[in-house]
Amino acid sequence: MKISIVGATGLVGRNIIELCEEYFDTSVEYHLYASKESEGKTLQVNGKEVPIRELSSKNIESCDIALFSAGGERSREFANQFVDKGAFVIDNSSSFRMEKTVPLVVYGINEDIIKNDSKIIANPNCTTMALVMALKPLHDIFNLLSIVPVSYQAVSGSGKSAIESLENELANLSTPGSAPDEKYYQSQIAKNVIPIAGNITENGYSDEEMKFSNESKKILDIPDLNVEPSNARVGVETGHGIFCTATFEKDVDVESAIESLEAFEGVEYWKETYPTPLNAQGNKNILVSRMRSGLTSNKILNFWAVGDNLLKGAALNAVQIANHLYKNDFYTK
Ligand SMILES: NC(=O)c1ccc[n+]([C@@H]2O[C@H](COP(=O)([O-])OP(=O)(O)OC[C@H]3O[C@@H](n4cnc5c(N)ncnc54)[C@H](OP(=O)(O)O)[C@@H]3O)[C@@H](O)[C@H]2O)c1
Repeated sequence: MKISIVGATGLVGRNIIELCEEYFDTSVEYHLYASKESEGKTLQVNGKEVPIRELSSKNIESCDIALFSAGGERSREFANQFVDKGAFVIDNSSSFRMEKTVPLVVYGINEDIIKNDSKIIANPNCTTMALVMALKPLHDIFNLLSIVPVSYQAVSGSGKSAIESLENELANLSTPGSAPDEKYYQSQIAKNVIPIAGNITENGYSDEEMKFSNESKKILDIPDLNVEPSNARVGVETGHGIFCTATFEKDVDVESAIESLEAFEGVEYWKETYPTPLNAQGNKNILVSRMRSGLTSNKILNFWAVGDNLLKGAALNAVQIANHLYKNDFYTK
């Protein structure tokens, strides 16, 4: 098998490499791509130095699976070029997510929608991914009608430049002038909360909030789901948290809700302690807690979910999809 990792030097790309080492045997041949600045450098895969190629049409070689995490512009320009060379493309950007013919897949929820001709498969937005993992088992028993999710999104969700900015801000707070003072976000993020994640759109919601709305409907296959989203960026390195108020068609009970979450692969319900982003960091599961029935309705559940945005929110889900393609003979081995 040949796997291409596009954006191999990024936060998501580096996690993809580690997970590929874990999921696939050492016979896999890896092709690594990044920007021109990384060309000629190497990254270790399975103990071997693998050269990084510049992502350009002339450098694209045929492969079985290409995992894209290099931003939407690169996905739009190059994904189909990899498809033309015979690859299944699993894309971490938002470029293709809402296209009708492109499956938007959360492994564990809807990987069965992938067909042999699904040559581009979209990986959902990291916050949406954590939320739908918690909602799916609840929807299965109570029938979901509407959600009010409020997210607390970590800095690593914006990539390595944002992490560098956070580190510089922290350094300058402890020793003024010790680091460059350009900020990635419009306000200081270190020790702070910015009440918007992503960019504002015409309707006053941020693009991240609109992803919550559009993508959760598509993944859960509930086109008329009502979604009232709010997203904030918090001065946390990794781990997106979400408080969610979910309204169902049926009357809910907290005990059955917790049982359904405990039985769902990829989710942990925490009863004794409250999981934080630090607990989620490095954990492949989505951690849920604080399940409460509504104060005003017996059809409402309120809960907290938190997940590692770089793992289930991005790299892990992509590698789980790649493994699904591999295990189910989607291409000739
Ligand atoms: N971070 C998350 O939690 C998360 C979650 C879900 C989805 N995503 C999506 O995943 C993608 C990557 O995110 P990230 O957080 O890993 O970003 P990142 O840390 O900033 O890494 C960006 C990667 O893209 C490469 N790249 C940038 N410009 C390029 C160009 N012109 N040609 C080829 N490669 C180029 C970079 O290569 P160089 O090192 O050479 O610059 C690097 O490998 C984005 O589309 C993002 O929206 C991220």
